[in-house]
Amino acid sequence: MKIGVIGGGAIGLLFTAYLSKSPHDVVLCVRREIQRQAIQTMGLTLNFGTSVYTCQPDVRLLSGRDHGDIDVLIVAVKSYDVEQVMPEIGERFSRTRSILFVQNGMQHLRILPKLQMHSIYLGVVEHGALKESDHSIIHTGLGQTKIAPYLDGHSGFNWEKLSKEDFPFTYQNDWYAMLSEKLHINAVINPLTAILKVNNGALLANPYWFYLMKQVSKEACKVLNIEDHEAWKDLVSVCENTSLNKSSMLRDIENNRKTEIDAINGFLLNAAQQKSIEVPNNQFVYQVIKGMEDHMESRENNG
Ligand code: PAF
Repeated sequence: MKIGVIGGGAIGLLFTAYLSKSPHDVVLCVRREIQRQAIQTMGLTLNFGTSVYTCQPDVRLLSGRDHGDIDVLIVAVKSYDVEQVMPEIGERFSRTRSILFVQNGMQHLRILPKLQMHSIYLGVVEHGALKESDHSIIHTGLGQTKIAPYLDGHSGFNWEKLSKEDFPFTYQNDWYAMLSEKLHINAVINPLTAILKVNNGALLANPYWFYLMKQVSKEACKVLNIEDHEAWKDLVSVCENTSLNKSSMLRDIENNRKTEIDAINGFLLNAAQQKSIEVPNNQFVYQVIKGMEDHMESRENNG
């Protein structure tokens, strides 16, 4: 079987490296020729603790050709890039039956119905991953990939077949419960750590920041219609388990990259408006992060 992965970021490279250990062929589709060449010449290196593994996936340019030979596809681009890769998926993967999307937030869901001819799955990635270079990745935390069927998702591929002890896949029945649980966690940890420039664990240790976490969390639970006691317990345990990690949003800000704030708190603001729910704390963190992105952009434009 041929497994395709779209995305040369941390998560795309992590999937490519682990799936390359399986008996399946893995094709990695990237957008930049420079990254394609780096992986083709040097291989893709995965670092986990003291172990180092290098594989040689078939690496292609996403827009370069028809990828009709791919049986199943994992789309691992950032949420704000999904719209941009949709035409490529429609045109170049027309014979690929099952497609898994592993983005943060829920903003991308509105465009997925365009892929009518495919079985669509949604995934939540709970691994920690850090991209060291275009051809090297560090697996910073062993987690799992949760997968739930979305559109026509019951008739496609059994993703659990790809599960391995060191890279597990588990099935969930309810995509909404799965995504909203993760969205709640991201809506609290990501903007607060990015604004305060602290590791995840610091939010729990400081009573003032802990209070802010509670406020953002309560609003998110109300909008997502999830039980806040359970959601809060999950949030605290993610914060504890990743206490020394930097959130993806903090890393984006530190590296002057666009963040996923629109897909996360931006999605919550829209949903809150539709339900007439007041969310002042989410509104505040959203405005601060958007302002930071804007500030970075104008600094770059002014040299
Ligand atoms: O986006 C992230 O950084 C992660 O999803 C999480 C769970 C917040 C841990 O850092």
